[in-house]
Amino acid sequence: MNEASRAGGLLHRVGERERPAVRLEVDGVAIEALAGDTILVALLTNGARLRESEFGDGIRAGFCLMAACQDCWVWTAAGERRRACSTIVAEGMKITTGKAPWPRQR
Ligand code: FES
Repeated sequence: MNEASRAGGLLHRVGERERPAVRLEVDGVAIEALAGDTILVALLTNGARLRESEFGDGIRAGFCLMAACQDCWVWTAAGERRRACSTIVAEGMKITTGKAPWPRQR
């Protein structure tokens, strides 16, 4: 367990803690975020990683945080790819971050 795991997440809220709670499921695990959070904020306030790299070079936590670098892809339960840094959480959302179906084999 690293320092971020012990503290609850890589990111820590310093304000706006009164927004309504939103519950979602990430890789089968229930987590809680706040209304208006992006998926990236939801994941990194609940843990120390965003996803596994599809290129086998380890865990990722996003890079640009402004929907430009494509380092934060996650997948919905329906298999739709979403940028975690620019997708707002929704109640009941189900997200997959590992063993993602991209890039697809042809
Ligand atoms: S972190 Fe760069 S696109 Fe999301």
